Amino acid sequence: MLSLLLPTLLAVQALAVLEVYVPELPVVALYGMDTTLNCSFSHASPFNLSDLSVFWQLTDTKRSVHSYWASQDQLADQGERYANRTSLYPSQLGAGNASLLLRGVRVADEVSYTCFVRVKDYGSAALLLQVAAPYSKPLVTLEPDSNLRPGDEVALTCVAYGGYPEADVLWQDGGGHNLTDNVTTSLVANEEGLFSMLSVLTVTLEPNSTYSCRLTNPLLGEDGHASVTITGQNMVFPPVALWVTVGLAVCLLGLLIALAAVCRRKIKESCEEDRAAMTPLKS
Ligand SMILES: *[C@@H]1O[C@H](CO)[C@@H](O)[C@H](O)[C@H]1NC(C)=O
Ligand SMILES: *[C@@H]1O[C@H](CO)[C@@H](O)[C@H](O)[C@H]1NC(C)=O
Ligand SMILES: *[C@@H]1O[C@H](CO)[C@@H](O)[C@H](O)[C@H]1NC(C)=O
Ligand SMILES: *[C@@H]1O[C@H](CO)[C@@H](O)[C@H](O)[C@H]1NC(C)=O
Ligand SMILES: *[C@@H]1O[C@H](CO)[C@@H](O)[C@H](O)[C@H]1NC(C)=O
Ligand SMILES: *[C@@H]1O[C@H](CO)[C@@H](O)[C@H](O)[C@H]1NC(C)=O
Ligand SMILES: *[C@@H]1O[C@H](CO)[C@@H](O)[C@H](O)[C@H]1NC(C)=O
Repeated sequence: MLSLLLPTLLAVQALAVLEVYVPELPVVALYGMDTTLNCSFSHASPFNLSDLSVFWQLTDTKRSVHSYWASQDQLADQGERYANRTSLYPSQLGAGNASLLLRGVRVADEVSYTCFVRVKDYGSAALLLQVAAPYSKPLVTLEPDSNLRPGDEVALTCVAYGGYPEADVLWQDGGGHNLTDNVTTSLVANEEGLFSMLSVLTVTLEPNSTYSCRLTNPLLGEDGHASVTITGQNMVFPPVALWVTVGLAVCLLGLLIALAAVCRRKIKESCEEDRAAMTPLKS
């Protein structure tokens, strides 16, 4: 019933205003952690708590996040997403602190919240919650990763998991130059809304080159970074490979021939011995 009254109350807000304060800048909360949405109100004289109403709502849909009146929480119409996850600070209400504790922050909590307070007068203010999750340390892999020749086109892949929001990806070569030309970056959200980021850099291979992938979370300013260095070890130069193969083949062949010769001699020898051993018996 009270939620039916709210629009009426808001309509006459200009006539009777209670100052309500919330943070002006978005509140950044870490994914999975608890956060406090600050809201305070001014009151000239001590008031009776039973006269206080606090409504935390989603700003766009007006769905209830947490309500309080008649000296207690009123959670019958609370949005199910917020069930068991919210509380006010009851001991602080008398001091004009109507802040909301939100537990286990999720990506879906990233919306605008309105704090509506009434004692005798009423007022409201809205704040924005932003969710941040750090990405895993990026991992850079090379495809293909063997038999590389200078001049080959290779794909370097940089992956990082479980972050939010979208990260900025920067590829650099060993000289610190930005490589932006042949980069494709894609994001996939999991069920929780956290992103997996995959960035592919296509380059023409040069010996002794380093490629690094640097990740920045715009909210956390946190830097993750990984690199690969392609040395002569990863790379096989065709003439060398050929000579090594031919060399090995020649050695093997030589060994086989030698072995065959030895075997033949042995067989011949043992036959002659047999004959020699048999001769005396005959005579
Ligand atoms: C909430 O308010 C308290 C006291 O004014 C302040 O110390 C704290 O930084 C505020 N938190 C946020 C997220 O604004
Ligand atoms: C309200 O009280 C809580 C709990 O003591 C505190 O964390 C928060 O900073 C307070 N907020 C304001 C705006 O004073
Ligand atoms: C607060 O309000 C209730 C109900 O209106 C009343 O019974 C109580 O006496 C009041 N207390 C104070 C301290 O004014
Ligand atoms: C909230 O907690 C109560 C009691 O612990 C439990 O019965 C209920 O299922 C919980 N609701 C949700 C949505 O987790
Ligand atoms: C590379 O890009 C970053 C971010 O876009 C920029 O801050 C930096 O100045 C660039 N560096 C060079 C050498 O272009
Ligand atoms: C980008 O790819 C194209 C075609 O694959 C190639 O011609 C060009 O040199 C590449 N640019 C850089 C900077 O590697
Ligand atoms: C690669 O670097 C190593 C050591 O930095 C150097 O000895 C070698 O000559 C370099 N090879 C090429 C092909 O530049």
